[in-house]
Amino acid sequence: MNQRVLVWDVPTRVFHWLFALSFAACWYVSESDLWLSFHTFFGYLMLGLIAFRLVWGFMGGHYTRFSEFLYSPLAGLRYLRQALSGSGARYIGHNPAGSQAVYLLLALGLVVGLTGMFAQGGEEQHGAVAGWLAVSTGIIFKEAHGYLAIVMLLVVIGHLAGVAMESWLHKENLPRSMVTGFKEAAQGSAVSKPHYGVGVALLAAAIAFGIWWFFYAWHEPVAKHLGYGGAQPGLHVAFVGPKLPDNAKWRDECGGCHLAFHPNLLPARSWQKLMDGQNKHFGTDLALDDATKAAVLAFLLNNAAEHSDREAAYKINRSIKASEAPLRITETPYWVKKHAEISDAIWRSPKVKTKSNCGACHEDAEAGTFEDAAMKIPK
Ligand code: HEC
Ligand code: HEC
Repeated sequence: MNQRVLVWDVPTRVFHWLFALSFAACWYVSESDLWLSFHTFFGYLMLGLIAFRLVWGFMGGHYTRFSEFLYSPLAGLRYLRQALSGSGARYIGHNPAGSQAVYLLLALGLVVGLTGMFAQGGEEQHGAVAGWLAVSTGIIFKEAHGYLAIVMLLVVIGHLAGVAMESWLHKENLPRSMVTGFKEAAQGSAVSKPHYGVGVALLAAAIAFGIWWFFYAWHEPVAKHLGYGGAQPGLHVAFVGPKLPDNAKWRDECGGCHLAFHPNLLPARSWQKLMDGQNKHFGTDLALDDATKAAVLAFLLNNAAEHSDREAAYKINRSIKASEAPLRITETPYWVKKHAEISDAIWRSPKVKTKSNCGACHEDAEAGTFEDAAMKIPK
């Protein structure tokens, strides 16, 4: 005689689907900087969820406890071989192969989340560890983050294949049991009786962690992208790194015809060349007297890309060949790469007009910070 037993308690199921959702959402937007705050929101949520699951592995329902599916990787492989030959036994909770996926996904989710957090803290100077690392260190974390995420994707695919195989092998719908929580089991099988209050409290804390991030960074840019009203310009997350150097004379002399391009957007050799040719500046004569020219040039040289620890400065500088000294930011390889996907129609639109009109799309162009959350493409 079989009975319906509760296998996956509510907190476990909510965890499972939010974890899957976070993973998918992060992948979905991973290519675009415009969606970086959305990406990091789900990254933080994922970290919160993993923290919950680690605690829940000790106090959750019977089948969700780690002690109920402590199998070695070898046992997992053995089970996989049996399952492939059609003889794998049916487990009510995680089978030995499936439990490897659970462990791997929790471990990978944790390192992917943490490397992402450090990438963001270094490269963007944002998030929980903002300012702890230099941009160049942040970039190393970001590369590790990318590779680890691919490994995690492979494990997810393996997990899905395993679920499909198990469902077919034992003629039961495993995804459905992760929705309803119930499975058929022999009379007398253990039933999950978790500490519901604790589970709900922990899960609420994990979600609150994600929501904190939402209010910290996410809501305004996303509202803007979705076209909701009420999104106010300038509400993007403020840059939390040290304030960029400023200079009144430079703003005066270089901010009249176009945005005063922050010195960190080009290397010193470019500024030197640009100021040497100030009498034929893109078809105009700036007609600066020597003292003014020297003062502005000093500010430009002292704060040029190679002396700045901003992401844009670092990456622009790294993209330019040592033998070259481009006069245009918009011709540096990094800039070109970052703006390659913007259509001609947008460049030609009356709100943009020219590539050097950075402020049309970057709300913080005046400040020179070029934060991801401050980007928008004018409609
Ligand atoms: C009299 C007007 C005028 C002033 C003042 C002026 N510029 Fe320009 N600048 C221009 C024009 C015109 C262009 C070309 C704009 C374009 O093609 O979109 C330009 C382009 C630039 C560019 C290249 C932008 C790109 O495409 O990446 C840089 C860098 C630049 N200026 C720096 C400066 C600096 C530094 C100063 C102050 C010393 C300065 N400009 C002052 C007129 C001016
Ligand atoms: C037509 C709109 C538009 C204009 C004009 C524009 N940008 Fe951008 N910029 C974008 C978009 C969109 C992105 C994000 C691309 C992506 O998703 O990778 C971006 C990305 C960047 C980035 C990378 C930011 C990061 O953190 O990864 C920098 C730096 C940048 N722009 C600088 C500039 C500068 C400097 C100018 C002016 C010389 C400029 N942009 C003009 C739209 C624009």
